[in-house]
Amino acid sequence: MSEIQRVGVVGAGLMGSGIAQVSAQAGYETVVREVEQGFLDRGTGRIEKNLDRAVAKGKLEEAERDEIAGRLHPTLDLADLAECDLVIEAIIENLDAKHELFGELGGLCKATAIFASNTSSLSITELAAGTDRPERFVGLHFFNPVPVMPLVEVIRCGQTSEEAFKLAFAFAKSLGKSPIACGDNTGFVVNRLLVPYMLDAIRAYESGVASIPDIDTGMRLGCGYPMGPFTLGDFVGLDTLYHITEIMYDEYKDARFASPPLLRRMFLAGYHGRKTGKGFYDYSDDEPVVSDFVS
Ligand code: 3HC
Repeated sequence: MSEIQRVGVVGAGLMGSGIAQVSAQAGYETVVREVEQGFLDRGTGRIEKNLDRAVAKGKLEEAERDEIAGRLHPTLDLADLAECDLVIEAIIENLDAKHELFGELGGLCKATAIFASNTSSLSITELAAGTDRPERFVGLHFFNPVPVMPLVEVIRCGQTSEEAFKLAFAFAKSLGKSPIACGDNTGFVVNRLLVPYMLDAIRAYESGVASIPDIDTGMRLGCGYPMGPFTLGDFVGLDTLYHITEIMYDEYKDARFASPPLLRRMFLAGYHGRKTGKGFYDYSDDEPVVSDFVS
């Protein structure tokens, strides 16, 4: 068992709320912090909906649901994270915003607390270097939807102590996840392979290989993937995907990681996928159809 008892999650978006949910489910007192009440309510609402669904399906007892909810402590005040043994950051993918947050946390949290980032593509080394505890800093990269996807990438950089890495790895295991150890290479393991695949699908469409639904069907039925690359892009968010390409291309200067023109234009036009109702597909009706941007 790890020494971690109280967990802080900063950010209650899709990823942050998912991380808070699995943390509370695993028995940790979990403080989840947002900057605005509306964002906090949306995040906790998402968790309640997931737990209620599990009760309705007979996968969770009502009493267990109430216990999990009792371990969740939503707050707008960063100072409420002071007693946490582990703080996981899941805010926007912006280096300055993350540095500012960890700077504030450094002044508030116990010296023994481990700081972790759920970043999908920023450098853990660079994030750690901006904190007062680079040896107690790790990456904990979860996958969407967090309550369902079993993987967590646990990233250590040159400064991470063996103890902090082991604690973070054990924490991920204690959530019922299957962690893997990764070095601090931009994109880690999964995005390093997944992002070029998704970009290649867009390039294939741009060069007339097949239609968007046919490429999706091809990869679903030909490879057994649960979603085709365009459905997955809409699910992850085309804004998120575009930002990842910018960071990965900047790091590797390799054309495989560069955004195809179509992705950039969809990002600029606000076609960000499911979250905005339109991306490669239009989600207005029950059955998604190819969106007006690409039809
Ligand atoms: N939150 C919580 N639970 C969810 C959920 C959500 N958003 N979506 C689905 N579920 C649960 C359902 O309740 C159901 O639970 P049950 O088995 O207990 O009944 C289970 O997941 C299966 O759901 P459905 O039957 O409704 O749907 P599917 O079988 O089609 O599965 C899916 C949905 C799990 C999302 C599946 O389509 C899938 O695995 N898709 C690929 C997801 C993926 O690749 N994620 C990684 C993205 S990359 C990433 O996150 C990295 C980042 O850095 C970009």
